[in-house]
Formats: sequence, C-alpha cells, structure tokens
Amino acid sequence: MALDGAPVRATGDRLGAAGDRFGRQLRDLRISVIDRCNFRCPYCMPKETYGDDYEFLAPDEYLTFAEIERLSRAAVQLGVTKLRLTGGEPLLRPDVATLVAALVAIDGIEDVALTTNGFLLSQHAAALRAAGLHRVTVSLDTLDPDVFAAMNGLGLPLARVLDGVEAARAAGLTPIKVNAVVQRGVNDHTVVDLVRHFRHTGVTVRFIEYMDVGTLNRWAGGAVVPSAELMRAIAAEFPLEPLAAAYHGEVAERYRLRDGSGEVGFISSISQPFCGSCTRARVSTDGKIYTCLFGGIGTDLKAALRGGADESEMVALLAGIWTRRDDRYSEERARVAEHVAQRDARRVEMYQIGG
Ligand code: GTP
Ligand code: 5AD
Ligand code: SF4
Ligand code: SF4
Repeated sequence: MALDGAPVRATGDRLGAAGDRFGRQLRDLRISVIDRCNFRCPYCMPKETYGDDYEFLAPDEYLTFAEIERLSRAAVQLGVTKLRLTGGEPLLRPDVATLVAALVAIDGIEDVALTTNGFLLSQHAAALRAAGLHRVTVSLDTLDPDVFAAMNGLGLPLARVLDGVEAARAAGLTPIKVNAVVQRGVNDHTVVDLVRHFRHTGVTVRFIEYMDVGTLNRWAGGAVVPSAELMRAIAAEFPLEPLAAAYHGEVAERYRLRDGSGEVGFISSISQPFCGSCTRARVSTDGKIYTCLFGGIGTDLKAALRGGADESEMVALLAGIWTRRDDRYSEERARVAEHVAQRDARRVEMYQIGG
C-alpha cells in the first residue's frame, strides 16, 4: 500500500507518467529469437544477398531463453504488458515453446503472441498452445499460389501456410491475424481474395502499406498502395464500417464487414503514420534494443545480461534508453518530400527485428 492507502501496482510504474521524450509509454516488447528464415521474400531477404554462404549469427550470439526472460521481467517493471516473438522465422529457433512457457508465466504479462510465416506452424501449433502461447499472427501476402511462390522467393507452396493457419485455429491460438504486405503490381490485385477467403473464419486480415524498412528492398513510393485505395476496392464487394481501436496505440485501423462475416485492418505507416502513439521496442536476436523500426544502431543489452546485471540494473538501463527516445521516423518521412535524402545506410533490416 502507498501512503495514501492506494494499492501500489507491482509492475509497470517505474517510468512514471513521463514516458519517452514525447510522453509515450513502453507497453509492447517485440523479441526476435532468430535471424534466419526459411523464406526469401524479395522485400526482406532477397536471395541474391542471402545465399547459402551468408553468415547469419552463430547460436552463441543469440540471447539465451534465460536472458530473454530476465530482459522481459525488467521490461515489465517499466510498463510492458505485451510480448511478441518474431524472427526471421521464430519457429526455426529450437524449442521455442520452452521460451513461451517462461514468458507467459511472468507476472504482469497479459499477451504473448508470435509472428510467423506459417510454413512450419502445423507441426508446432499444438505445442505452442500447450506452452501457453496466446495467439499467432501469420504473414501471408496473397492466396494466389503463383504470386505466393514468387513472393516467398523460393517457390514454396501456399497450401502449407493455409494448413498452418488451420492448425493454429484448431489449437486455439486465437484471435489469429493474417498480415499482408501489399505492393503495387505484385499482389495488389489479390487483396479482395484474402478478405473473401478468411471471412466466416474468425481470422482478421490486415493489409500493410509497403514500407521503406531496411536497406535491401529498393523501396520506391510507387510500390505503395495507400490503404484508402485498398479500402475502396474491398468495400465495393464487402461494405465496411469502422470499429474502435482495441487498445491505445493499436497500429491497425479496424473495420467490420457490414454483413457481420468478419473484420479487416489497415496498417498505414506511409499514408497515416502513427508514431504519436508508438509504445513499441524491438530486441534483435543478438540482444540489441531498437526504439524504432527504422533505427540505425541498436543499444546492446547482451553485455549487461551476460555481465550479470540484476533486475534493477536492467530496469535502469532500459529506462535510460526509453526516456531518451525521440524516434518518429514515419512522421518525419511524411514531411520530407524527397524521401531518399533520409536514407541511413546503417538502418536495421526487417528480418533482424521481426517487423
Ligand atoms: P497486435 O498486437 O495484434 O495488434 O499486433 P501489432 O499490430 O502490434 O503487430 P504486428 O507485428 O502484427 O504489426 C504488423 C505490421 O505492422 C508489422 O509487421 C509492421 O509492418 C507494421 N508495424 C507494426 N508496428 C509498427 C511500428 O511501430 N511502426 C511502423 N512503422 N510499422 C509498424
Ligand atoms: N513493409 C511492410 N511490412 C513488411 N514486412 C517485412 N518487410 C516489410 C516492408 N518493407 C512484414 C512482413 C511480416 C512482418 C514481420 O513484417 O511481411 O508480415
Ligand atoms: Fe519473408 Fe518474414 Fe522471412 Fe522476411 S522474415 S523473408 S518477410 S518470411
Ligand atoms: Fe514507432 Fe518508429 Fe514506427 Fe514511428 S516509425 S511508429 S516511432 S517504430
């Protein structure tokens, strides 16, 4: 009890009301557990760059499960209630269910999710659910088998991913979200099919504006399909009506299909940046924390974790990083007409911090 008799929250209050330099709190920690992937999506890990001889991190460079748990416990002290495991492809990290079990047991953590490309999901869904994972988000950009084969860079079959989504549903890893990155001239002609396919299933499809993350995808504004345009195309077949955000800082704008058959979302980082309510931090597989998806250089946490820092030292380290935070890349991008001028050659790649 505090002096005035009000109960003291066990977790989440160490930053006070101040938050970062723009008053944003830390709520959502996204942890990349492996930098490898079994796909080679050209916009993320083009196979010309990530061939057989590419040197990914060595396993001894990964944060261990115990280190991830310690870091997460410290983050809870600063206000984190949500954890998301990402990659690369997180299901390639051996025994990831063991990590899930440790994370869901942390007092103060309300939501543990995992983002996957779905290819290995059928074989892992039941074990993940048994370990306590709450839900999965599956990256799936199209239902056209040929477009899908091209977009994963390796000609891999779509059916495996759809089986993965079904296995996740059967295992109770719900609510399931499907994230589709839309690129003009690549998969934009297939978006309505995604809505049609997943209505009546409880799966929410969210369309993501193609972003200039990383340094490898040769992003150009012409490849972006603004959400407003997608919305019009979808609404022509399935009339939509807006829904309130499910929580403060939700990146997706939600809509329900007016016939009650489902929900879709739009993540419009290019046309409507949402930095003002950004409560997310990301940790790379090798333990660097990034306070923005478009960060250049992360701050190393592994040395402190391996050096035996205790929880209060980790809390202080994280608080220092967060209170200095002034990132708002997407809003700044929107103000600069000549986007290319801002390119930072050191920018972190999407597969290193999981999106
Ligand atoms: P929920 O907890 O299910 O609401 O998930 P989420 O929307 O917080 O996370 P998810 O990983 O599903 O986000 C989907 C995509 O939105 C990511 O892969 C990114 O492409 C984009 N995104 C998420 N967070 C940010 C962000 O902070 N900044 C920008 N620019 N894009 C983001
Ligand atoms: N723009 C938007 N989303 C992207 N993702 C990867 N690269 C980009 C990009 N350039 C998405 C993936 C996946 C999530 C992890 O990030 O498709 O849904
Ligand atoms: Fe594709 Fe995701 Fe793998 Fe990147 S990490 S190559 S977006 S599946
Ligand atoms: Fe947050 Fe950076 Fe994305 Fe803005 S661009 S919403 S600050 S991660």
